[in-house]
Amino acid sequence: MSKKIRIVLLFGGRSAEHEISLLSATSIYKNLDKDKFKVTSIYINKNGSWKIVESPLLSIDSMAKGRSFSFLPWNKRALLQDLDTDIYFPILHGPYGEDGTIQGLLEMADVPYVGASVMASAIAMDKAITKSILKAKNLPVVKHFIILKHEWAKQKEAMLLKINKELPFPLFIKPACLGSSIGISKVTKNAEIPLALKEAFRYDRKILVEEGINGRELECSVLGNNTPRASLPGEIIPFREFYDYKDKYIEGKTRFGIPAELSSSQVKKIQRLSIETFEAICCSGMARVDFFLQEKTEKIFVNEINTIPGFTEISMYPKLWEASGLFYPPLLEKLIELGFERQEKKKRGEENLTS
Ligand SMILES: Nc1ncnc2c1ncn2[C@@H]1O[C@H](COP(=O)(O)OP(=O)(O)O)[C@@H](O)[C@H]1O
Ligand SMILES: [Mg+2]
Repeated sequence: MSKKIRIVLLFGGRSAEHEISLLSATSIYKNLDKDKFKVTSIYINKNGSWKIVESPLLSIDSMAKGRSFSFLPWNKRALLQDLDTDIYFPILHGPYGEDGTIQGLLEMADVPYVGASVMASAIAMDKAITKSILKAKNLPVVKHFIILKHEWAKQKEAMLLKINKELPFPLFIKPACLGSSIGISKVTKNAEIPLALKEAFRYDRKILVEEGINGRELECSVLGNNTPRASLPGEIIPFREFYDYKDKYIEGKTRFGIPAELSSSQVKKIQRLSIETFEAICCSGMARVDFFLQEKTEKIFVNEINTIPGFTEISMYPKLWEASGLFYPPLLEKLIELGFERQEKKKRGEENLTS
């Protein structure tokens, strides 16, 4: 038998999506073929300290107990255990995990890792920057503008006028850099705007005000480095007013169309837009691209791209691959292979350090 590939799973993390990361990591851990991989699990607690644990299957309490360590070698409480490994698999959602920060650490260490690079991760984390890039590439995005916290504090009246002039109700108001629908509000009248902005500003100094699209929500999984492939699209049918945090993680009443019921030309269009979005931000490894299909006009808009999408067995990303003929364990193996491939290209000088 050939030698096992050593892989380090990094999960938990400092973001509000800590718990979701544990669920994703648990599924990945269970589905990694232990005859092929030797898995080391590193739990990152909510303060950002690291700890080697037996597996992500343990409870948060037992993982959080005991000594955790800084990853900085010069820190007195550095993680000094031997961590010789072949590849890292960050399965961290949101800031300090999906945003290029940990990818930067891995680049500095010159080790292979799964998923998007520093730049693609950072771009995808910021919904405002992503939209600017997509717009520049003529990819369809909803009408929106950006409000910074200090601007709002200074010129509330002018901002309200601008919103009223440029965007019809309903509006969506959201922090630029977060996920899991945290801090997002749907707004149907002027009086609700200040509160929605206040809520979004709790999480970010930059927020987006967007035209709300009435229609269907579609998602598509992308896999690859230089020649990415797109899965069949899927549909999210929210139970609540929109696909908010409760709908995503608490009430469990959301319905999914896997694959989505679409005409073959709609499927092709979504797959093409997914790949173009992936390429526009120089993504590698994986991403889930999310869309709106406007009811009245049948127009398709790219909503966002997630570089570390939810990865439980029932999450859209792996489910869509399953519906397209690629099952969870081979999907993991492909992602790992892509991580090695990017590192080898980088070593041969074919790839830029961070993209
Ligand atoms: N412009 C919009 N039009 C209609 N619904 C929206 C819009 N923006 C967000 N939503 C709703 O809010 C949810 C979360 O917004 P999204 O931009 O995807 O942020 P997150 O990164 O938190 O998932 C979407 O899945 C959708 O239900
Ligand atoms: Mg989303």
